[in-house]
Amino acid sequence: MIDRIVNTGVDEQDIQEVELEDSIRPRDFKSYIGQERLKQNLELAIQAATKREEPLDHVLLYGPPGLGKTTMASVIAYEMGAQIRITSGPAIERAGDLASLLTNLQDGDILFIDEIHRLNRTVEEVLYSAMEDFKLDIMLGKGPSARSMRLDLPKFTIIGATTRAGSLASPLRDRFGHIHRLEFYQPEEVQRIIERTANILGVKIDDAASGQLATRARLTPRIANRLLKRVRDYADVNGDGIIDTVISTQALQLLEIDELGLDPIDRLLLLAIIESYNGGPVGVETLAALTAEERSTIEDFIEPYLMQIGLLERTPRGRKVTHKAYKHLGKSMPNDSNSLL
Ligand code: ADE
Repeated sequence: MIDRIVNTGVDEQDIQEVELEDSIRPRDFKSYIGQERLKQNLELAIQAATKREEPLDHVLLYGPPGLGKTTMASVIAYEMGAQIRITSGPAIERAGDLASLLTNLQDGDILFIDEIHRLNRTVEEVLYSAMEDFKLDIMLGKGPSARSMRLDLPKFTIIGATTRAGSLASPLRDRFGHIHRLEFYQPEEVQRIIERTANILGVKIDDAASGQLATRARLTPRIANRLLKRVRDYADVNGDGIIDTVISTQALQLLEIDELGLDPIDRLLLLAIIESYNGGPVGVETLAALTAEERSTIEDFIEPYLMQIGLLERTPRGRKVTHKAYKHLGKSMPNDSNSLL
């Protein structure tokens, strides 16, 4: 995937970025802005589990990238007073990897598995009984002398995160007691997040500029915080470090991010549907070829926001752009006779 300011992925190579993310990440429910219903549900579940002196039931968080699934997992751990171990579906290659993770946990610990839909089948099957009755079924040896063993595990909580709840095998999905979808944030919430982050980083930004950035951050905190950093760079070099709308407008122009938060790749995708396919419908594989992006990048990173703001629709026959997309890109709608051709 090429580097985009609006990428919602975390760049694992960028240590500075990881450290920055840590310092601006809210620690508890009180400092976590947005996702109000989710917070209410989780707070209740945590209070109940604490009162019963039990671990929290397993939690599955799903939704588009960048909305705070990992952050929410660490908030849950903080609120439970629990230790959290962080791993991901692709990192657990063999059943033995999972076994060593699970046997090293202590009662009450949380194991966070990001991209849980990418666990392989063998690992997934070992996880079933571990989640269900805190037992680990492992095979020792191979061939005729192989025997199976059942180990007791500590009472842990799995928090799984995925952008694709639909790709999760149903026996796995069924073992989560709490299944929650993270929603896109309201622009006012994004603005509060930008102001909170600016405060932590010691960046001076006025209300109008934080409001402007909030409307261009794709309703996504990770993008909001990244935009803030880039605009701060611009303000440091081209001004006195203070971000007002003059500075932020210029910086956003340089970053090629428009009024709706679209970047050149979003516009390329919408224009391709308009110009080459008369507005659609068109299959996602065709769009992947037209934009030179992977299908999963289009499905997970690009489309959710375009659909959320009503520029794109998914239909059984493929993707279609809306009137709003034509208007936003300054294109006139094809008339009916054209669209029949
Ligand atoms: N930083 C990133 N996401 C946040 C959130 N939801 N609340 C507060 N600060 C954040």
